[in-house]
Amino acid sequence: MTSEDDSVIREIERMQRDVASGPEIYRPGEFWTDLLARNIEMIRDSGIANLKRTVSNNYYNWLVTKQKDPQFRSAFAWLLRHPTSRPFLNEMEAVSGLSTQRRDAVSMSGNAARRYRWFSGIAWEIAVAEDRAGLTGRLQEPEVGNPIRIRRQGRLISQDLANSIIEYNFVAAQAPAPPRRVAELGAGYGRLAFVHAEAAPVTYCIFDIPPALAISEWYLTAVLGADRIIPYGEEPDFESLSRPVERGRVAFFRPDQMERFPDRWFDLCQSISTLPEMPRRQSDHYVELLAAKSRGLLFLKQWRDWHNPADDAHYTEESYSLPAPWALSARRVDPVQTQFFNRLWERGAGGAGA
Ligand SMILES: C[S@@+](CC[C@H](N)C(=O)[O-])C[C@H]1O[C@@H](n2cnc3c(N)ncnc32)[C@H](O)[C@@H]1O
Repeated sequence: MTSEDDSVIREIERMQRDVASGPEIYRPGEFWTDLLARNIEMIRDSGIANLKRTVSNNYYNWLVTKQKDPQFRSAFAWLLRHPTSRPFLNEMEAVSGLSTQRRDAVSMSGNAARRYRWFSGIAWEIAVAEDRAGLTGRLQEPEVGNPIRIRRQGRLISQDLANSIIEYNFVAAQAPAPPRRVAELGAGYGRLAFVHAEAAPVTYCIFDIPPALAISEWYLTAVLGADRIIPYGEEPDFESLSRPVERGRVAFFRPDQMERFPDRWFDLCQSISTLPEMPRRQSDHYVELLAAKSRGLLFLKQWRDWHNPADDAHYTEESYSLPAPWALSARRVDPVQTQFFNRLWERGAGGAGA
């Protein structure tokens, strides 16, 4: 372990103590309890510098390597409707050191590697097609975290960056004005925070449990620079959080600290691939909290239909309902992960019906 790994592990332990002594409703459910332990092991074994080979595969970076994978099939269905040879021309480095929550090593060679490169390349073309904000021409996958390097005309691309750009654009297309205060619940290593912080002068607040909270803090500090970070601490400092900024910055909190924010403080609250992995009571609590803290928009991207065996909870798209004055203003099947929905609610909007 490097001294960097040591200090991330110490930060994780400090945050764990804080979460353990906080309200019970915010503590990890059964599904995440196992995964947390495994993710901490990954940091100890492979180092924080390799987080995009290890923990990120438990967040959103899917190892799509099989022809029968639903994401692979829907990517090719998209390609048939939008023919381009671009995804086949990208270059990918040889990959090693991959792991997931299952302890078996993941091999990515030969056909598996080719399929992963094609899938990631198609996800990128979907992002290009949706990208009214022009981010695909301006951003590339940061080398921090040792990603699987795929190059499109020399630019480093990835499925994580493609998905984040798609999520950003979906919300931006409906937003009356660019959101200046954003809350994200359960941000993984911070892939979407990176895009928001580079896209606009936003104050982006991450609410998460450790180890992800410490991992995203380390990652975004390395990628954006310490001057654009408000580190994790005991109390939210509203004076500093309310200061206007020229470049996007990111602040870090435990989930229970969201309660300390005034109602309607954020322009946008969002959460991706999180709620079905929690007990139902916790998921309902979070939806209520996110709705209370947003004055404008609430964006959820989650499984359309999924059973969480560890917490014995079954979720469908209809599991997340928001009472008036919230109204659903946009809804679709996710263009890359077609087993997920995208739903955007607007406070006080006429809406597209629930
Ligand atoms: C599957 S990952 C998704 C990460 C990220 N949204 C993404 O799409 O890359 C689930 C996230 O939910 C967080 N999470 C799990 N249990 C939580 C809880 N009880 N409270 C807050 N966040 C939680 C995890 O720490 C992790 O960041």
